[in-house]
Amino acid sequence: MTSQSFPVGTNQPADGTRAPGAPRLGNATGLSCRECGKTTELGPYYACEDCFGPLEVRYDFPRLTRADIQAGPQNIWRYAPLLPVPADIASRPTTEPGCTRLVRADGLAAELGMRRLWIKDDSGNPTHSFKDRVVAVALAAATQMGFKVLACPSTGNLANAVAAAAARAGIRSVVMVPANLEGQKILTTAVYGGTFVTVDGTYDDVNRLASELAGEHDDWAFVNVNVRPYYAEGSKTLGFEIAEQLGWRLPDQVVVPIASGAQLVKIDKGFTELITLGLVDDKPWRVFGAQATGCAPVSEAFANGWDVVRPVKPSTIAKSLAIGNPADGPYVLDVVRRTGGAVADVSDPEMVDSIKLLARSQGIFGETAGGVTVGVLRKLLASGQLDPEAETVIINSGDGLKTLDAVAPAVNVPAAIKPTLEAFQAAGFDGADLS
Ligand SMILES: Cc1ncc(COP(=O)(O)O)c(C=O)c1O
Ligand SMILES: [Zn+2]
Repeated sequence: MTSQSFPVGTNQPADGTRAPGAPRLGNATGLSCRECGKTTELGPYYACEDCFGPLEVRYDFPRLTRADIQAGPQNIWRYAPLLPVPADIASRPTTEPGCTRLVRADGLAAELGMRRLWIKDDSGNPTHSFKDRVVAVALAAATQMGFKVLACPSTGNLANAVAAAAARAGIRSVVMVPANLEGQKILTTAVYGGTFVTVDGTYDDVNRLASELAGEHDDWAFVNVNVRPYYAEGSKTLGFEIAEQLGWRLPDQVVVPIASGAQLVKIDKGFTELITLGLVDDKPWRVFGAQATGCAPVSEAFANGWDVVRPVKPSTIAKSLAIGNPADGPYVLDVVRRTGGAVADVSDPEMVDSIKLLARSQGIFGETAGGVTVGVLRKLLASGQLDPEAETVIINSGDGLKTLDAVAPAVNVPAAIKPTLEAFQAAGFDGADLS
């Protein structure tokens, strides 16, 4: 990082020049504007100088074989040549996320009348959500750019991931969340010992504050603000892993939860890159997005045929997805429309019911985001928008242990009995209804 200061709301040095010395980030060659295509060098930039459009990482990919990847570590660094990270990243201290299980979900498929359903279970990551992927990539890029502090505004899971990744790397973290988050997510962030700020406001308020702070502290890497182009690339690894775990094939349909929308957009980008590199055969796939009705700006835009996403004020128990003004919303619409998918939303009761369905049919306890995804899967099957015959992957992006309050009122915990046979029988536990 340089000693230059970046004015609030921009990513440019105050004197209009670029920070000297582009960082070495593997095969990444620069950044380009997703709106106007203008290119710029690698650095802590996230908005286009000309049109303020978001920036995205560009690469000069090497020739890469399936065997090269398979010889790599059992974590996301097996895809390091396709990420904006230094070549030796696998030997640096990181949380080593990724290579989570892809579960053949025959139980859930049978319940829903589907032929071939898979669950990409990202609750198996080090801090139990897919956010470990994006944070690991952001941290790698940020330290390479000389940042000394890892920071974020978060809806909860990102807070866990940033605090843990910074602890592992031995650097400071500054994590900011809405104060009304689930108690589990608060505790599982605070335990790592970084600077932890709970804010009396919504996520969108916290995000605004983070943008101001990013302008004030030029040595703080806000993973999803000033190093967002690098951070977002981490979600491509979900797409890479799904394809590799299917035996280097793409699925027909994928259902992804949406908060900012970056995960959905990058899974699609990951599929496209695998085709470009000749690592999978080209074939059509359809991308579907899932939101909670209490925070469904992208679903609303999709249903109305809008190109813009109108911000909403969230009101849902799916707090991890409660982003009312999603940065990648318009790009989600592009991906979904281009691939022939859809975006839909489910109510909080439908979400809770779907968490229980996933648990009962598959033995997987997902968080509220997982309930939203399964709920939307059900809804789009019922409406005929998802094909029950087509091979489908859904993302379970987080762990139900972090959102216990969501299911507590809907789960029946029987009263304690005395430790006797009589008490067991009297309570009806050996009755015929157990079979
Ligand atoms: C568990 C979980 N799933 C999905 C998402 C959505 O990710 P994105 O912001 O990339 O759309 C989040 C975001 O916080 C999350 O915590
Ligand atoms: Zn531009």
